[in-house]
Amino acid sequence: MIVTTKQLFEAAYGQYAIGAYNINNLEQTMGLFRGNMDSQAPFIIQISKGARSYTHKAMLEALIRAADQIFPEAIFAVHLDHGDEQTCYDCIESGFYSSVMIDASHEPFEKNIEITRRVVEAAHARGLVVEAELGQLGGVEEHVKVDEANAKLTNPDQAKEFVERTGCDSLACAIGTSHGAFKFSGSQGLHFDVLEEIQKRLPGFPLVMHGSSSVPQEEVERINAAGGNLKGAKGVNEDEFKRAATLGVTKVNIDTDGRLVWTRVHREFFRDFPEKFDLRDPGKIFMAEYAKFIAHKNEKLGSAGRLEEVRAMLK
Ligand code: G3H
Ligand code: 13P
Ligand code: ZN
Repeated sequence: MIVTTKQLFEAAYGQYAIGAYNINNLEQTMGLFRGNMDSQAPFIIQISKGARSYTHKAMLEALIRAADQIFPEAIFAVHLDHGDEQTCYDCIESGFYSSVMIDASHEPFEKNIEITRRVVEAAHARGLVVEAELGQLGGVEEHVKVDEANAKLTNPDQAKEFVERTGCDSLACAIGTSHGAFKFSGSQGLHFDVLEEIQKRLPGFPLVMHGSSSVPQEEVERINAAGGNLKGAKGVNEDEFKRAATLGVTKVNIDTDGRLVWTRVHREFFRDFPEKFDLRDPGKIFMAEYAKFIAHKNEKLGSAGRLEEVRAMLK
């Protein structure tokens, strides 16, 4: 059942965070639904601009509709990840998405407000909710490169003003994370102090943590042992998700970790079975491993076991 992110946020706020997982293909979609059903968790499917154009935007939509039929118990939202203004309008008009993210965080404050406000008006008119971003994450965000050294954490006073003036429904905050597999250069870590200040100014308002992959060292070692080269990769401590949830983080975005599962499965498979060439053989392993990975993340986020509670709230 497709619901809005707002409904999921109301159920989760202050207690746990909802996992927001990016998908690009059939195998990820199947693994994602299985993992969430195995762990009985509500979840958010994220589709990036790159994912929409990987094959065709209609392809992912069809996959999700099919998964909804195959897994009738599932409760999830469909969300555009890091949208520009035009892509937001496209998703709003499509009637398929539950929510869009307008990412104008690379613009100056006033311009970010102006763009976000326009998208909020269009989205709210059609019953969709909007995630916006303030502050800049390090690393690479869809077409936007920000040097981690110059990453700008979200200013708590500006966050309050931004939310009030834009009417957005949730806010992605820069609290030290970055996208990709190489996070936290030097002594950086999650800035709980900033998060606390934001929550004080915006009590009850859902915050979003991007760049939340934990880049498990065991995964990195297995990839490197099977011919990869990901030396120095590191991520967020997943044992910190629950603390972040008590401080208002209600949505946690995870993409890179899933890509690492894919890379490990395929590298090991072709190393161990050089004579094989049926794409379904590693595909089956990947779907099972991805499902296990999703269930594990949901335990860390506290969303595991919440499905029936959310269903009851929706009635
Ligand atoms: O934040 C970006 C997400 O990980 C999506 O990545 O733009 O390569 O699909 P992508
Ligand atoms: P990771 O690269 O840490 O998985 O972050 C994903 C993300 O923020 C998607 O919006
Ligand atoms: Zn992101």
